[in-house]
Amino acid sequence: MKIMVVGGGGREHAIIKKLKENPEAETIYALPGNGGIAADAVCVPEIGAKDIVAIARFAREKEIDFAVVAPDDPLVLGAVDALEAVGVPCFGPRREAAVIEGSKVFSKDLMKKYGIPTAAYEAFSDMDSALAYLETAPMPAVIKADGLALGKGVVIAQNLDEARAAVQSIMAGKKFGAAGDQIVIEEFMTGPEVTVLSFTDGEVVVPMVSSMDHKRALDGDQGPNTGGMGTIAPNPYYTPAVAKRCMEEIFLPTLHAMNAEGRTFRGCLYFGLMITRDGPKVIEYNCRFGDPETQVVLPLLKTDLLTVMQAAVHGTLGEMNIEWSDGAAACVILASEGYPGSYEKGKPITLPGDLPGNVTVYHAGDKLADDGTLLTNGGRVLGVTACAPTLEAALEDAYEAAGKVDFAGKQFRSDIGFLALAAKGRR
Ligand code: AMP
Ligand code: GLY
Repeated sequence: MKIMVVGGGGREHAIIKKLKENPEAETIYALPGNGGIAADAVCVPEIGAKDIVAIARFAREKEIDFAVVAPDDPLVLGAVDALEAVGVPCFGPRREAAVIEGSKVFSKDLMKKYGIPTAAYEAFSDMDSALAYLETAPMPAVIKADGLALGKGVVIAQNLDEARAAVQSIMAGKKFGAAGDQIVIEEFMTGPEVTVLSFTDGEVVVPMVSSMDHKRALDGDQGPNTGGMGTIAPNPYYTPAVAKRCMEEIFLPTLHAMNAEGRTFRGCLYFGLMITRDGPKVIEYNCRFGDPETQVVLPLLKTDLLTVMQAAVHGTLGEMNIEWSDGAAACVILASEGYPGSYEKGKPITLPGDLPGNVTVYHAGDKLADDGTLLTNGGRVLGVTACAPTLEAALEDAYEAAGKVDFAGKQFRSDIGFLALAAKGRR
């Protein structure tokens, strides 16, 4: 089988490594892929993940048998529709369903309409009305750009001045471009965060192992928001009782809501949850696998990923038994100095030759120089994942391996898993 994966980060590397385990996967193309992915797939660097026309043309020319579209941008732009139009079966939601991530106003209105628990909110397309609303809004307030903003379109304003400044920079200053033409102002919630990725074919929803991201740049959850500095799985806050409530109050109602709206979702639906005192609530939906959640979730998947993805496309997920390892996984992201601000690229990377069998380095932001040297090429450069029987052992092995990877300016959080370990200590 010829398979194509759209995207070129750590998440895509994890997907590709898992797809490769199926002996039927003869050739896997990555569009565009990256320096490290090139060891596992045929990279096509000249086709970017947002170039829908070129992606569909490539799929037709290469007679691709199965495609996976991983990043949010192409999904929201309609890459799955374009691939289906040229006859290529594709894992991922169509454009009409990807709007669940593409528009926060859409997703908040959906949750309100169908009684799915989430933070209280108001939506605005006019700045003066938003500013007037803030005068009596409770603080802190959370201000979100409607559209895609690389995970950076969220401001938690502690007081009225910060809230006004955020609204002005998003709506008048166009900080996130057209993504900020509309905004959502929502109630600030507190509680531990849980990510649950799920497979869905529109009829059943199968949650994967739960995970926890660490979005802030610095130890102790300090510093600016990033795309994610590390992850652990499973998430100890996602107890069986919480899982049951999530299924009944969030997962199934979301699936049914999307069906009722004529926007059946097939693919990976990401639930970003907060476990509040009033129970689990949705922080956000994503229409795709999380990055770097995928780098701890897929290594724990025992069932063949290609078979699961095909079942999601064909509507036969309900007939499958999807199995997970009992152990834990931890991923430590190694980033470029300066990230999430500006950073330099092109630093040579040295990888240890002798990694233990339970450790995998997923490549996110790197490229191969003409002479074959691996060079840094992004903010988040590598994700070092370890799987082990316990979270403690997984963290220890991930950190030990992360210490052996080298590039100039390498930075990482030294406390990935601290909240999860604290939660386990309390039980
Ligand atoms: P998002 O991009 O929507 O995932 O938001 C980024 C981060 O902001 C989340 O992971 C939360 O930590 C935080 N956040 C978003 N919405 C809220 C909210 N309503 N209350 C508290 N924290 C929030
Ligand atoms: N790790 C958060 C995300 O993928 O959106």
